[in-house]
Amino acid sequence: MKTIRDLELYGKKVIIRCDFNVPIENNKVVDDNRIVSCLSTINYVKNKGAKVILLSHLGRIKSEADKEKYTLAPVAKRLEQLLKRDVLFIPKTRGVEKELANLKNGQVALLENTRFEDFPNKLESNNDEELATYWASLGDIFVNDAFGTSHRKHASNVGIANKLPAAAGFLLEKEIQQLQKLENPQRPYTLILGGAKVSDKIYLIENLVKKADYVLVGGGIANTFIKAKGYNVGRSLIDEESVEFCQKLLAKTDKIIIPVDVKVANKASEEASERTVKIDQIGAQEESLDIGMATVRLYCQYIKKSKTIIWNGTVGYAEIRKFARGTREIAMALKRANALTIVAGGDTAAILIQMGFKGEVTHISTGGGAAIEMLEGKELPGISVLNK
Ligand code: 3PG
Repeated sequence: MKTIRDLELYGKKVIIRCDFNVPIENNKVVDDNRIVSCLSTINYVKNKGAKVILLSHLGRIKSEADKEKYTLAPVAKRLEQLLKRDVLFIPKTRGVEKELANLKNGQVALLENTRFEDFPNKLESNNDEELATYWASLGDIFVNDAFGTSHRKHASNVGIANKLPAAAGFLLEKEIQQLQKLENPQRPYTLILGGAKVSDKIYLIENLVKKADYVLVGGGIANTFIKAKGYNVGRSLIDEESVEFCQKLLAKTDKIIIPVDVKVANKASEEASERTVKIDQIGAQEESLDIGMATVRLYCQYIKKSKTIIWNGTVGYAEIRKFARGTREIAMALKRANALTIVAGGDTAAILIQMGFKGEVTHISTGGGAAIEMLEGKELPGISVLNK
C-alpha cells in the first residue's frame, strides 16, 4: 500500500481524512486520543510544505438540530492547542474555494463535519458521486488516516480516494500493521472478550475461536455463557437470543473460559452494596456486574502464559468505579505480560486510556467498529480502495 512517504508533497493541496469522531461536552473535546493519533501525519504533511485540508465526520446527522450539536468547531480548537498553531476552521462543507485559496504552504484548514451532507439527503454516507467529485476538486492528493472510519464506504474516504492519487497516513499504516500481526500470532494466542451482547460479536467470536487458543469472557457476554451452562443469572444483563449459540459453542470447543465467580448487586450503581459469589450462587434479584477476584487470578494465569493477546470489551460495568476492578486488574495483567498486547474497541480503549494504560500495552486501536470488522476477517473499503 502506498503511504505518504511515497508522495511528493511540497506545494500540493493535500486532503487528509481523519477520524475526529470524539466525545464533546460543553463545546470541549473530552477525549482527544483520536486527534492526538493523527498528529504525526498532519505534522509530516505540513512540514513538507503542503497545504493541509482536513476532513472528518462527527456523530450521525439526522436533523438540522444535530448540526448544531455536532459541529467540528471544538475539534478545531483542540487541534490548534495540540499543533501549537492556527487552524483555519471553515464552518461549511461546500463553497469553500475562496477560503482555501488563501491557504499557504504549511497551513492547516479543517472543513465542517462531512456528515452535514447527510441531511436532508444521505450524500456522504451513500458515497454520492457528485459530492466526492466536489471534495476531490479541492485537493491534489488524498491521504486516508481515518482508520476508525475504514469500515464505511463514504464519499469522504472511498469516494475521494477513487478520484485522486491516494495514500495511507501513519496512523492508518500503524493500525493495519499491528492488527495484521494477529494473522500469524505467536502462541498461545488469547482473546479477552467482554462487552454487553454476544449477538453484536457473533462473527468476531466465530472467526477468533478458530484462531485463538483461549477465549476469556467477561461482562454481559460472560453472563450469557453462564446462563448457557445452565446457571441462574438473576437479573443480570444477558442476551437471550444468543444462549443457544453459546451452548453450541461450549459443546464444540473447550477454548472458552468462563468466570468462576462474579461481583453482584441489586442495582448497577455506585451506592449499591455488592458481594462476590460463585457463579452458581447469583440471587434471583441480583445482577452480575463484574468478574470476581478468583476469576481475575484464573484469567491472569492464561494471560501470563500467552504470547499474543487481543482484548475487546470491558469485563465488568467499568463506568461505575466499584465494578471496574476486574477491568483494571486485567489491564494490569496485560501491562505485566510478556506478549504482544492489543486493545480494540471504542469503549474499551476509552476506559483503559482513562485508567492510565496508554503506552502500557503494545497498541490501543483508535478503531471501534473498524477494528472489530478487521478482526472478523472482513475487507474494509476505506483500506482496500488504497490498494487499487
Ligand atoms: C467510530 O466511532 O467507530 C467511527 O468514527 C465510525 O463512526 P460511525 O459508526 O458513526 O460510522
